[in-house]
Amino acid sequence: MSRSFDRGFLWGAATASYQIEGAVDEDGRGPSIWDTFSATPGKVADGHTGAVAADHYHRMPADVAMMRELGLDAYRFSLAWPRIQPAGSGPVERRGLDFYSRLVDELLAAEIEPIITMYHWDLPQPLEDAGGWPARETAERFGEYAAIVVDALGDRVRRWTTLNEPWCSAFLGYASGVHAPGRTDPAAALSAVHHLNLGHGLAGQAVRAALGEQGMLSLTLNLHVVRPDSDRPEDLDAVRRIDAVANRSFLVPVLEGHYPEDLLADTARVTDWGFVQDGDLAVAHTGLDVLGVNYYSTQRVRHVAPGTPRSMADGHAASAHSPWVGADDVEFLPMPGPHTSMGWNIDPTGMTELLTGLSQRYPGLPLMITENGAAFEDEVSADGAVHDPRRVAYLHDHVEAVGLAMDAGADVRGYMVWSLLDNFEWAYGYHKRFGIVRVDYDTQARIWKDSASWYRDLVRTGRLPAAPAQT
Ligand code: FCB
Repeated sequence: MSRSFDRGFLWGAATASYQIEGAVDEDGRGPSIWDTFSATPGKVADGHTGAVAADHYHRMPADVAMMRELGLDAYRFSLAWPRIQPAGSGPVERRGLDFYSRLVDELLAAEIEPIITMYHWDLPQPLEDAGGWPARETAERFGEYAAIVVDALGDRVRRWTTLNEPWCSAFLGYASGVHAPGRTDPAAALSAVHHLNLGHGLAGQAVRAALGEQGMLSLTLNLHVVRPDSDRPEDLDAVRRIDAVANRSFLVPVLEGHYPEDLLADTARVTDWGFVQDGDLAVAHTGLDVLGVNYYSTQRVRHVAPGTPRSMADGHAASAHSPWVGADDVEFLPMPGPHTSMGWNIDPTGMTELLTGLSQRYPGLPLMITENGAAFEDEVSADGAVHDPRRVAYLHDHVEAVGLAMDAGADVRGYMVWSLLDNFEWAYGYHKRFGIVRVDYDTQARIWKDSASWYRDLVRTGRLPAAPAQT
């Protein structure tokens, strides 16, 4: 079935500062936790770092020109906090702010709407040294930083996302340790959850104070679509536990103003949540104008007796330490294929299920897909092109799945493909290519993949062709 999207639907592409910019020592930028982590042997595949990445810091005008050729309505990017406040607090580095100011001007001149993420994981190292997200001060510093960036760019930018995927910051950063800063302390991870929620609220207040009704406040979550292995009550309870720690630990404080009782109970042996102070939840519950949703795949779980050896095929389990705090009796089962080169199963029905579920739980809440895409083992063909029919099919089927959710009543306002460019894929380094545009890391040449041309046609017409262009 071919389908059309309204003209107002925003089509865009997403990136993140540490993954594309490079230039980590330039114009006064301070170190981030990802500089430190990637320089630590054994943390990132083959010792890759973001030192050069896609060299976007130097190639920004040409990259924006490419976005214009793609016809994008919007571009979602993140600000590197350590470029703007090299120590994470105190003095502002003008040159860092100027870079983003120029980027915004280039985008507006190209009629591309900027969507800014304030924090996509590159925490200034001095803040980690002072305790990181488990410490309350980090949330307070984040609120101050938010006021600085909204003050500098809010005259031209309406759409502000506070955090990208706080689940990853908290649990991959502080529990499993597969992301920076690489700590493995479950209680610290839960404290990070709360201070990320608080930081979101403080940053949201800064957006509201500066922009009032003009501002569009958002938070981007990687909500987990978790299904039970059977309808046995224990397996349904396994889903409940994962939903609590992965999804409701952020959704409920931010959209309802409290922590779920079952989350507090499940994690009671790890922490008493004494770090939650009076008034914090009212701050976290600042209200969203749009919820950002990142979606890639689905997961299946079952109950196992605590202490039983578990297969943890959750795509994040390459660590002896589990990110699943409070869920010691849950096993993640291997998912049937097909898979992307991340090992993530391809399941567009999860996209529809997620969006319809959200719109039922939070009627009237506008949603935006802030990331969706796939890594495959792309090759440059003899003709110099990159033919990536599997990515085209993935994107087709997931955009279709968004449309199905809209048919069922979900209020989805836009779709940002992950990613504009191949980039530094965190612990996987440069081995995983998510771009619709290939980056040749030797020359920094940009090569359009077939998916880029396919996406340009979708953006131009708003019409999703019936069949994916598979070869
Ligand atoms: C998400 C991240 C993004 C990218 C994709 C593949 O978790 O937000 O930076 O790494 O996954």
